[in-house]
Amino acid sequence: MKVLDIHDEIRRLKRERDAILLAHYYQESEIQDLADHLGDSLALAQQAAKCTNRVIVFAGVKFMAETAKILNPARTVVMPDLEAGCSLADGCPAPDFAAFKARYPGHVVVTYINCSTEVKALSDIICTSSNAEKIIRSIPRDQPILFAPDKNLGRFLVQKTGRDMVLWPGTCIVHETFNERHLIRLKTRNPGAEVIAHPECDEVILRHANFIGSTSSLLAYAGKSRAKAFIVVTEGGILHAMRKAWPDREFIAAPNDSGCGCNECPHMKRNTLDNLYACLDRLAPEITMDESLRLRALAPLERMMQLSA
Ligand code: 13P
Ligand code: SF4
Repeated sequence: MKVLDIHDEIRRLKRERDAILLAHYYQESEIQDLADHLGDSLALAQQAAKCTNRVIVFAGVKFMAETAKILNPARTVVMPDLEAGCSLADGCPAPDFAAFKARYPGHVVVTYINCSTEVKALSDIICTSSNAEKIIRSIPRDQPILFAPDKNLGRFLVQKTGRDMVLWPGTCIVHETFNERHLIRLKTRNPGAEVIAHPECDEVILRHANFIGSTSSLLAYAGKSRAKAFIVVTEGGILHAMRKAWPDREFIAAPNDSGCGCNECPHMKRNTLDNLYACLDRLAPEITMDESLRLRALAPLERMMQLSA
């Protein structure tokens, strides 16, 4: 009797369904290894926009799959688990955001891509952690800015660009739990290691970082740096891509409040090989959205795509 291998079955279904698998660095390692494109949220949005396959399978969280649908509506976009949300998106409901925005007339609304389609539709420009600084710098200096929903990324941008911005008070449940005391202890035990961190971390953590950037820029920096060891302050999925890309270097997961380096995003980790297989088999659950909402969300996303080209 032939035992079916789930990796082979996923590859077979991808071919049969004419599907492209886009996966974020925070996915489990086996999903990363099966992906046609592995990337950060900007790279994956760019891949989704130019994809010509009939189906896009998005192994990431819902706002990422929704972004793919907004940018490329002719494709069927499916994801393994529609419940894979994001604390930043969930913490910024569109009616509350509309009321917040109304308190700041005349402000240009720059919104981090980690938000719902409804919140994108209320925004002027979308950004990711890869292009946020460039986008803020593209706005005339006398133009007031409202930034949502991540206050840590917002504060980091205020410091970087010198622009004063009104910030929505959102945080990421993974990046807000890194612990300064445990991090200092780990640094002391690894004196040659550099600290590399995602800008969603709290200011007290970012103060210790030798380099701050999006998931793909952390990966690229680890290859360029003279250091041979790195304390990585972001979701643990990226460690797989780092160890694969730079096998001669050491990557150490930064400790969270419980002192452990188990920094998993519970939303990202809802995707498994089993539900990825089922999603390809049934082409469900599918991302669908109202066309007028999609068009309103597309305008600020297109501004981002132009500014990131
Ligand atoms: P990137 O833009 O670096 O991929 O980050 C996305 C994210 O969700 C970070 O928590
Ligand atoms: Fe959202 Fe944080 Fe998970 Fe990224 S790591 S998807 S910001 S909850």
